[in-house]
Amino acid sequence: MPTENPSRGTVTRLVEAATAAPSLHNAQPWRFRYAADGGVLELRAAMDRCLPHSDPHGRALHMGCGAALLNLRAAAAEAGWRTAFRVLPDHYDPRLLAAVRLRRVPEDAPPGDPDGAAEAAALAELAAQIPRRHTNRRPYTAERVPDPVRALLRAAAEREGGQLLFASPWHATAVLRLAVDAEGRDFHDPGRLTELAQWTDVDERPTAATGDPGHRPAPVHDFAGRLAPTERMPGAGDGPPPQLALLSTVEDRPADWVRAGQALERALLVATAHGLSAAVSSGSLAWTELGWTVNDPLLPAGQVHAVLRLGYATETPASPPRLPLHQLLDLR
Ligand SMILES: Cc1cc2nc3c(=O)[nH]c(=O)nc-3n(C[C@H](O)[C@H](O)[C@H](O)COP(=O)(O)O)c2cc1C
Repeated sequence: MPTENPSRGTVTRLVEAATAAPSLHNAQPWRFRYAADGGVLELRAAMDRCLPHSDPHGRALHMGCGAALLNLRAAAAEAGWRTAFRVLPDHYDPRLLAAVRLRRVPEDAPPGDPDGAAEAAALAELAAQIPRRHTNRRPYTAERVPDPVRALLRAAAEREGGQLLFASPWHATAVLRLAVDAEGRDFHDPGRLTELAQWTDVDERPTAATGDPGHRPAPVHDFAGRLAPTERMPGAGDGPPPQLALLSTVEDRPADWVRAGQALERALLVATAHGLSAAVSSGSLAWTELGWTVNDPLLPAGQVHAVLRLGYATETPASPPRLPLHQLLDLR
C-alpha cells in the first residue's frame, strides 16, 4: 500500500512548533532536514549554536533538541500524523539527534488502541499548549501545586523516560543553597560570563540569541541575587522556599539527555495546561560536580539535569523570539 508523505507546508508547520521549545540561553541549537521522497524528518544539532563554556558536554544542547522533538511529535499528532522516531540513530553521525518518520492516520482505523491512538490523542491535546508555554522568572505565590497536578507532571516526565521529584521544603532549601554556591563559581568563570553576555544581551550581539535585532534578551535566573529583584529566583533569601522539582534520568548518556529534554517539555506543557508558571534552571547545578549533591539522599534520583520552579504567578510576556525558519529548515 503506498504511504502518504507529509507536504512541505505540513513539515514547515511542524518545525515551527518544534522551534517554540525552550533551550539554554534561547540558543536554539537545532536544525531540521526533510527529504520529501524519503518521508523522514531529521533533527540535527546546530554546532554553530552550542555553548562550549556554559554547556561543555552538550547536555543542554541535547535537552533543547529533545524538547523540540516533543513539540514536533505533539504538533504532528494534532495534525493527524503518527510519528515513529529514533534518537541518535546513526553511530557515525552524532549530530543527527533524531530521525522522525511521519505516517498518516488511516481514516478507517479500527477502534481501540492497536496503534498508539491513546498516546497520539494525549500528545495532540498538548499541542495547544505549545504557543502558550513560556518561562516565567517572576516571583510566584505561596499557593501549593495540588497533589493531583503534581502526579500528572510526574506521569508526563515518566512517559518520556524521565523522573520528576518534588523537593520537600528542607530539600528545596538545600538545593537553593547549592545553586547559590554553584552560581558563585559561574561568576568567576570568564568564559561562561562572556557566553552569557553574548547570548542574552541583544545590545551587544543583536542576532545571537534572538535572531531578531531589537528584541529583548533571554534573561537568566540569578539565585545569588545579582539581577534586579524581579528576575531573581525567590527562596534564596527570605520567605517560604519555592516549589522545586528535580528532573532526572537513571542513566547519563547523550540519548538520556535527549530523553530528559522530551520529559522536560512534556511536563512543562502539562503544567501550562493546568495554569502553572514554570522556570527551568540547569547550568549552575547539573553542569558541575555539585550535580549529584542536589539529590535527596533518601531517594533514588539518578542524574539530575534541571531544576524546575513551579507555581502560580501573574502572566509575563511571551517567549523571546525564535530564528526564522529558512535559517534552520532544509527542505529537499
Ligand atoms: C536545558 C535548559 C536549560 C535551561 N537553563 C536555564 C537556566 O539555568 N536559567 C534560566 O534562567 N533559564 C534556563 N532555561 C530557560 C531558557 O532560558 C528559556 O527556555 C529560553 O530563554 C527561551 O524562553 P522560553 O522558555 O520563554 O521560550 C533553560 C532551558 C533549557 C531547555
